[in-house]
Amino acid sequence: MKIFVSRSFPGTALDSLKSSGHEVTISPFDRPLTAEELLVHAKGVDGLLSFLTDKIDGEVLDALGPQLKIVSNYAVGFDNIVVPEATNRGIVVSNTPCDEVNEAVAEHTWALLLSLARRVVEADESTKRGAYHGWEPGIFLGASLKGKTLGIIGMGRIGEMVARRAKGFEMKVLYNKRTPDPKAESELGVTFASVDDLLAQSDFVSLHAPLTDETRHMMNHDRFSKMKNGSYLINTARGPMVDEYALVEALRTGKLAGAGLDVFDAEPNMNPELVGMENVILTPHIASATYEAREKMGRLAVDAILQTLTSQQPQTIVNPDVWDHRRV
Ligand code: DGY
Repeated sequence: MKIFVSRSFPGTALDSLKSSGHEVTISPFDRPLTAEELLVHAKGVDGLLSFLTDKIDGEVLDALGPQLKIVSNYAVGFDNIVVPEATNRGIVVSNTPCDEVNEAVAEHTWALLLSLARRVVEADESTKRGAYHGWEPGIFLGASLKGKTLGIIGMGRIGEMVARRAKGFEMKVLYNKRTPDPKAESELGVTFASVDDLLAQSDFVSLHAPLTDETRHMMNHDRFSKMKNGSYLINTARGPMVDEYALVEALRTGKLAGAGLDVFDAEPNMNPELVGMENVILTPHIASATYEAREKMGRLAVDAILQTLTSQQPQTIVNPDVWDHRRV
């Protein structure tokens, strides 16, 4: 069968896909494909290995042809795919959830949090520019973590891993998710709070919910106004959860002391004002970029295609309802 991979990726899984006996084509470009290029290269394939930079809706699925059986998305998030449109057409959709990615994202969240609290990026930049002339008591004062409150919005696997690490810093953890989670509360010592209470009480707020109609721009002017004065926002989830104009305003007025962002509202673009702010740390959507996570993501994405094409339901299917009426 024919498989198209819309961009090459690191690790060993691509080699096993190439030697699977299927007709495998990999995009010749080391960049996201345009919508037109995706259609040109992937039309007529049985399996598509896609990335979060590929926008896949009903129109694209129809254009790819009636033989398409699986879209295997190399990411935990799958908001780039209109899943109900795939399900209606009998197409399997899978993603790459695994502890390796969850840990990588949780660790990057902490990298941003610690760097913000202790002004690591500002201090690095100043030192390299030659501005260090000897020890001084008043330079680069930051916030200590012990006894402070971390608010976690979205308590799935990543949120839990962030919370577990907060214990080591002796922080208090509040969390919000659709329904309270007694298991997380007893295992991690975290406390449920409404979003507004969490924002009002937290010194650091970290986002870990999926992007949905409900969470899109959930951090808006109103929500920023409810945050504790001098608090910090960290976003390693999805950019569109934050209204960047409202964030810039909250940073400019000093309502927020800083922000650490790995994701942006309209990636790869970002509000240009963020770039000029010293109390903002920006990373290019690399929270899951560890060797371990990329290897596992590749493995899961390849396995899902190979399994679906041999009629085995992949563990990472995101629309299991499709299985009994899937295209074969
Ligand atoms: C994910 O897995 O959803 C990340 O954002 C991309 O690696």
